[in-house]
Amino acid sequence: MHRPTPTNKEIKLSSKRYIVSKTDTKGIIIYSNDYFVEVCGYSEKELLGKPHSIVRHPDMPKIAFKLMWDRINKGENMVAVVKNLSKSGDHYWVVTDFEPKIDPLSKKIISHTAFRRAAPKKAKETVEPIYAKLLELEKEGGMEASEKFLHDFLKENNTTYDDFVNSLVQEQGIFKLFFTTMKKLFS
Ligand SMILES: Cc1cc2nc3c(=O)[nH]c(=O)nc-3n(C[C@H](O)[C@H](O)[C@H](O)COP(=O)(O)O)c2cc1C
Repeated sequence: MHRPTPTNKEIKLSSKRYIVSKTDTKGIIIYSNDYFVEVCGYSEKELLGKPHSIVRHPDMPKIAFKLMWDRINKGENMVAVVKNLSKSGDHYWVVTDFEPKIDPLSKKIISHTAFRRAAPKKAKETVEPIYAKLLELEKEGGMEASEKFLHDFLKENNTTYDDFVNSLVQEQGIFKLFFTTMKKLFS
């Protein structure tokens, strides 16, 4: 797969638009909305049928995706702050929520939809050095090392992953309502 070389340029996202994509249970893209196409720079044709790692940024630690898959495979939501790479090598920071689609008969997960909004400055600034540390640990001691660091970090701060991330990304009032409505429309 074509791997763009990362630049230092951040793509500024609209606070009013959402990046939506849907994948099968293996993370292969089966739907993208127009804003996803606009921001990542790949056409819909280039995205469909490709693994979602097409927008993976090398600054993202593996442990972030492991946690995500562990949760969404159980049909649970997971809020994550993610740095993504566009086709041109520029990046954009998002807050992602997931929604599984469950087959009513087999009760098995058929697909995952991700809803992304612009990450608040505070969230980016907080997680960037943490991700850098996790990545460094992964290079030295693999994912076990980064998992341990994350576990200890949350423990020392007397918090859980969910509480920590939610404190960074919490939407309030009208935005919260808008986001909930958006999720209902797509799932
Ligand atoms: C619905 C859904 C959306 C995803 N969105 C992204 C995304 O925006 N960026 C990303 O890097 N990975 C995303 N992933 C995770 C990728 O599938 C993949 O696990 C990740 O990019 C790590 O790739 P790698 O395992 O090849 O290193 C998503 C997965 C799912 C199921």
